Amino acid sequence: MSDHEEIRETDAHSGTETTGHEWDGIKELDTPLPRWWLYTFYACIAIGVVYMVMMPAIPALPGLAGETDHTRGVSNNSERANVAVAMADLEASRAPGFERLRGASIDEIEDDPDLLGFVRAAGDAAFGNNCSTCHGSGAQGFVGYPNLNDDVWLWGGSYEDIRTTIRFGIRGEHADTRFSQMPSFGRDALLTRSQIGDVTDYVLSLSGQDGPADAIARGAEIFTSQCVSCHMADGRGDRTQGAPDLTDQNWLYGGSRDQILATIYRGPYGVMPAWEDRLGDTTIDALAAYVYLLGGGEAAASRPTGQ
Ligand code: HEC
Ligand code: HEC
Repeated sequence: MSDHEEIRETDAHSGTETTGHEWDGIKELDTPLPRWWLYTFYACIAIGVVYMVMMPAIPALPGLAGETDHTRGVSNNSERANVAVAMADLEASRAPGFERLRGASIDEIEDDPDLLGFVRAAGDAAFGNNCSTCHGSGAQGFVGYPNLNDDVWLWGGSYEDIRTTIRFGIRGEHADTRFSQMPSFGRDALLTRSQIGDVTDYVLSLSGQDGPADAIARGAEIFTSQCVSCHMADGRGDRTQGAPDLTDQNWLYGGSRDQILATIYRGPYGVMPAWEDRLGDTTIDALAAYVYLLGGGEAAASRPTGQ
């Protein structure tokens, strides 16, 4: 095929050498690459080589490059080590805040804008990591998991009370856990179904809800014999036993007649883990102050009467 012969020549029209390929009189020019392109290309190769030498880049069999599965590079860079350094820096930057928090009273915290800001930031982070699964991201709570924003407290809402609850937990495994147990009046047949119905009507009446007068009267007697040791004669509860106020229309386990009846039938048993061994004392201080400052905290002495 004579028209396919490789004869290099200079194209008369453009002055560029041809590759020697020709099809039907059309010749292929051997135009050189633009210089800027070529030099950028060489620079990329050079940077790539330097990078591979400096940084961890080449996969290696485990054991060949120490405990990692890639070469370490001359710079010995490790993102994992960088994170550890960043964490240590964060810890160090927080240390003065934690140091000042230690032993501070809640009044001192509230009067010190720096400390207050520190508690809000450190407490918010720790709450999100450890507590929001049960108490909700806004600490609003769920059925069986108390709302920590309101001023209704099972075990007490002072800074000290809250700190104790967080440290030791409730009905948990810690030796100093807060503990009490309401009987399962139905399951253990301590009361009959109709007695439980009557005492339910009485409990509803404690928060001003209507019910059949005769049932309420029978329920009142049952309440006096079975319930006042924990919920007190006026039904307002006892924080030393974590027994809730039954008069406040605030229900941990639901406030419908069916829900209250079911609660009395089975006997509730809310469990909160202890955090003393998992979080340091200082983090617990920050959390306790954070929860206190959510809005429902109360002074140590302001216990409702009868408790
Ligand atoms: C596994 C679920 C769970 C987790 C996680 C949890 N809690 Fe609780 N918490 C509970 C339950 C359940 C109760 C109510 C126990 C009861 O009925 O007495 C409670 C009660 C409390 C109370 C007492 C409220 C009162 O009215 O006296 C405080 C304060 C509290 N939690 C704070 C926290 C903080 C802070 C964290 C995170 C460090 C946390 N909780 C993590 C389940 C949990
Ligand atoms: C030994 C103490 C004790 C006795 C006796 C007791 N309770 Fe309780 N009661 C508690 C405790 C503690 C709780 C909270 C349990 C929890 O948080 O898991 C509770 C919770 C409740 C609740 C749930 C309140 C809510 O907010 O949802 C109701 C209702 C209730 N009790 C009614 C009664 C009635 C009625 C009796 C008598 C028939 C009774 N209790 C006897 C300790 C007791």
